Amino acid sequence: MKATCLFLLALLTTAAPALAQKKKTVATADQKMNTFINALMSKMTVDEKIGQLNLLTGGEATTGSAVSTNVEAKIKNGQVGGIFSLTTPARIRKAQEIAVNHTRLKIPIIFGQDVIHGYKTTFPIPLALSCTWDLPMIQQTARIAATEATADGLNWTFSPMVDISRDPRWGRISEGSGEDTYLGSQIAKAMVRGYQGDDLSKYNTMMACVKHFALYGAAEAGRDYNTTDMSLDRMYNDYLPPYKAAIDGGAGSVMTSFNDINGVPATANKWLMTDVLRKQWGFKGFVVTDYTAVNELIDHGLGDLQTVSALSLNAGVEMDMVGEGFLTTLKKSLKEGRVKQQQIDQACRLVLEAKYKLGLFEDPFRYCNEERAKTEILKPEHLKYAREVAGQSFVLLKNENQTLPLKKAGTVALIGPLANTGANMPGTWSVNSDLANTKSLLESMTALVGNQVKILHSLGSNLVEDTAYQQRATMFGRDIPRDNRPEEEIIKEAVSIAKKSDVVLAALGESSEMTGEASSRTNLEIPDVQKRLLHALLKTGKPVVLVLFSGRPLVLNWENENVPAILNVWFGGTEAGAAITDVLFGDVNPSGKLTATFPQNVGQIPLYYSHKNTGRPLQEGKWFSKFRSNYLDVSNDPLYPFGYGLSYTTFEYSNLSLSSKALKSGGSITASISVKNTGSREGKEVVQLYIQDLVGSSTRPVKQLKGFQKISLDPGEAKTLTFKITEEDLKFYNTNLKFAAEPGDFKVYIGGNSRDVTASQFTLMK
Ligand code: NOJ
Repeated sequence: MKATCLFLLALLTTAAPALAQKKKTVATADQKMNTFINALMSKMTVDEKIGQLNLLTGGEATTGSAVSTNVEAKIKNGQVGGIFSLTTPARIRKAQEIAVNHTRLKIPIIFGQDVIHGYKTTFPIPLALSCTWDLPMIQQTARIAATEATADGLNWTFSPMVDISRDPRWGRISEGSGEDTYLGSQIAKAMVRGYQGDDLSKYNTMMACVKHFALYGAAEAGRDYNTTDMSLDRMYNDYLPPYKAAIDGGAGSVMTSFNDINGVPATANKWLMTDVLRKQWGFKGFVVTDYTAVNELIDHGLGDLQTVSALSLNAGVEMDMVGEGFLTTLKKSLKEGRVKQQQIDQACRLVLEAKYKLGLFEDPFRYCNEERAKTEILKPEHLKYAREVAGQSFVLLKNENQTLPLKKAGTVALIGPLANTGANMPGTWSVNSDLANTKSLLESMTALVGNQVKILHSLGSNLVEDTAYQQRATMFGRDIPRDNRPEEEIIKEAVSIAKKSDVVLAALGESSEMTGEASSRTNLEIPDVQKRLLHALLKTGKPVVLVLFSGRPLVLNWENENVPAILNVWFGGTEAGAAITDVLFGDVNPSGKLTATFPQNVGQIPLYYSHKNTGRPLQEGKWFSKFRSNYLDVSNDPLYPFGYGLSYTTFEYSNLSLSSKALKSGGSITASISVKNTGSREGKEVVQLYIQDLVGSSTRPVKQLKGFQKISLDPGEAKTLTFKITEEDLKFYNTNLKFAAEPGDFKVYIGGNSRDVTASQFTLMK
């Protein structure tokens, strides 16, 4: 006891001056910045200030019909604060030179890009990354992305995308971390840390932009850009925390979402941009709109361009992406008293502060280092890491009779429209990906095991039947081979190859462009034409493995019933082909766990594990009872629950125990569980802890993830894991939006997924 006190005293006496020193250094740095910006702004005209609020596109990747024109001339006129979608040190240097050599005040430009899941070295899509449940690993992918992107001239990324989504019809579910608030918040923080490091002005760190603020993933009917209408309970408890976590983690900027939130589109939503973001959360950075989102307020029905631009600025938005509404109307609005000088000044100040923090005033060419561009992009260690990460992101959904892993011997038939397309591997938002050197699964497999295994290949089917659909699904040059012969002929060829093999690998699912922005779908099954191929392959009697490419939870009832093994490989990035080969042939044991529920059918959507109980929950052991909350035609169960994923080994959970059944306010208790590897090979397991608040002043979800640990166990090895539970873990926003825990009973669940858990109970004391 004494020793502890002495230790604490020693800690306090050494830590306090260090803390005070740190605060002083920050204060001095802030003062220095303010002095610099005050001096600069005192020289700026209104036009120059408004110019800083203008973000143009360099046009390398566009996500709307508008493109920026006369960019050079606008830079010279002091009408550009930032440019995105322009890369390479040479091009960026050229634009920056105009800004710092040919404008009156020589203010440097900030250069952004959608660096979403890697840069040239592309990692798995964010939804897949989240399935690793490995925060240091996710952080490291963001670190590598920043290293490569800054080597190519950039200093600002439009990431992390932290939109919670519980609707797999929405194509952009692929860009986020799935359905869970807790996991999504941890990932948001890790990514910001990875991009920004601890010093934004370093040559290899870049500013993060949290998006899409807010609630973009809750678009009605899963249709992109659609309206969102949401209660404050759901907003504060489920959807807002990941944005807040990214901001608490220091993210320098925020992007507005396109959608209408409870009647006011986010880009004009003062409550969101000012009251929540700045007043409640203390955000100090700047807010940028999404692509032409100010102009889109006209179609939302809020007025003409001048009106909506003023609305947006007054709501608390600082930078206007592509649409130039701020540039062309704010001065007039100022004269007419529709916006205030102080509002323009504040917006300009925040943009300048970001540039200052990035070190651009000190050296505008800090990120234009040709030497780094040659040496730090696509480094062998980055590619090696991409392969490792991809291998951990795949989710083994089914593995009957240990169909997988395959032996490195005999003959394998690799069939399907996605088997031989490297362009499909990186997935959505991989605009800078090194497509030319991204191998297809066939190419990787041949290179890695081709001398031990005979690999036969045939297309087997088209991606989708309809050519127009295929065109929509392969935009941006992500071609998928297509064969115009009659379907029977294509299938016949595949079947004859399958018959000559020991095992069939069916590479099926979605193309990368069937997911992501503006790629919502209402039918979440594997396209029919591919299914017909699968039927034919199964009929051969050969063991079939479905190697499933997808950017969202798909509906897989039939496949789950009929195909012996299913490995979901998402879109795994530059090294996906090698990583899939590693897993299929057992060099890597799969460990990914789903972060979004797979429904049994589209009608169940939204389906998520942390739902409310309702007043008429199902009766224990029954999937249907009259006058209960259920369907006549399908149970309420998902096909695969949140947190689910198999391994080539098995794990057994036992002895869940709590250090105490009473948690005192301000104290903590410990939950422990023993996990044993009961199979015959080393494997990783994500051990998940869920809590249920049994009684509350408002209704509480049936389960909420509150902790997890990813562990590695040798065959036969057992580990006892402990999780600390504090009052903090039990807090929620009540109907008055007070964030507090309420005394009473709580259940604790621990298991390898959200469904298969063991339970215990404790009480939070007053
Ligand atoms: C539109 C997308 O919604 C957003 O995520 C992206 O950052 C911008 N376009 C810029 O490309």
